[in-house]
Amino acid sequence: MAIMSPAIWYKVEQLPWPADWAALFGRAAPLLMEIGFGSGLFLTDLARRRPEANVLGVEISVPALRRAGRKLERAGLGNVRLIQADAAAVLRALCLPASLSAVVINFPDPWPKKGHDARRLIDDEFLCLLASRMVTGGLLDIATDHDDYAAQIEAALRRSPHFAGRAATPFVLSDPGRLTTKYERVALDEGRTPRYFPWRRNDAPAADRFPIPQEYAMPHVVLRGAADLDEIGRRFRPSVAEFDGGIVRFIEAYRSLTDGKLLVETYIHEGPLRQRLGLELRPRLNGEIVIGLAEVGFPRPTRGVHVAVARLVDWLAAEFPALVIVNSTLKENHADDAE
Ligand SMILES: C[S@@+](CC[C@H](N)C(=O)[O-])C[C@H]1O[C@@H](n2cnc3c(N)ncnc32)[C@H](O)[C@@H]1O
Repeated sequence: MAIMSPAIWYKVEQLPWPADWAALFGRAAPLLMEIGFGSGLFLTDLARRRPEANVLGVEISVPALRRAGRKLERAGLGNVRLIQADAAAVLRALCLPASLSAVVINFPDPWPKKGHDARRLIDDEFLCLLASRMVTGGLLDIATDHDDYAAQIEAALRRSPHFAGRAATPFVLSDPGRLTTKYERVALDEGRTPRYFPWRRNDAPAADRFPIPQEYAMPHVVLRGAADLDEIGRRFRPSVAEFDGGIVRFIEAYRSLTDGKLLVETYIHEGPLRQRLGLELRPRLNGEIVIGLAEVGFPRPTRGVHVAVARLVDWLAAEFPALVIVNSTLKENHADDAE
């Protein structure tokens, strides 16, 4: 198997949806996932103990990815890959149904402040999404030292039709043989008792409401009429447009000093997917304006991107009534999707 440096990490928008894990790991093998691996101690140990498996580490924190990447590289492990993303986005966009053999979540952020508990990772919806991506019999292991979160996890697992406990009780107070994580060490040193939830995906069919996000054609709209990009840039104001699948924020407009393009910085939030990208307005010599996606980063032409371009065109049409659309690849109707 080719050893690829685990210090390199991927982002959801860089990989195909769904990901081709066999290509990424250089072999087909059972897929294990650790969500929120933090310092990477447990992930390194998992990859070492399970050489026959492909091990995927998912983490949102870039410093954590750097530290864990160095550990994995020093350990010379070739069966682990890292993704920098929110776990829900990885599950949703990269993982096919019934593709994960095991998932570990050690000491997820407890969000202890009053009113912040809605930010916790593990709830009914997350367990449904997880269930849709796990194989029947796949192992789910969760640990926490936070009393209130433990109660929430226990209640969600008990309510879930998709998981069954592997122990006689919903959680156990020790899990001998497993490596102690950094947060677990802190909890033990401070006298808190971690709870370990050893559960298993049962054979109940998963909900069919988490499709892999669809990608559309690259958006491309051509406008003709009396409007110049200087004036468009001057009239631009930040704005927000909601649509039935999420929200679009137009943040700022920038003018290129070299080729005259106008770049509209745009944030698109669709379910667990978030993209910050540039919508580009390019002048043609014949006076037409072409609107498309700027080649900055790894923009993916999702439905939200088509909605964003449609909203931008709506705004332009309202501000410059002389503009007419002469060509459009947009899948989303103008105006209809705004509400
Ligand atoms: C309390 S730390 C625990 C770290 C490690 N598992 C341990 O036990 O030492 C929680 C970790 O989860 C990561 N995290 C939080 N929300 C996440 C999400 N939605 N997706 C992926 N990682 C997440 C955080 O960046 C942090 O590193």
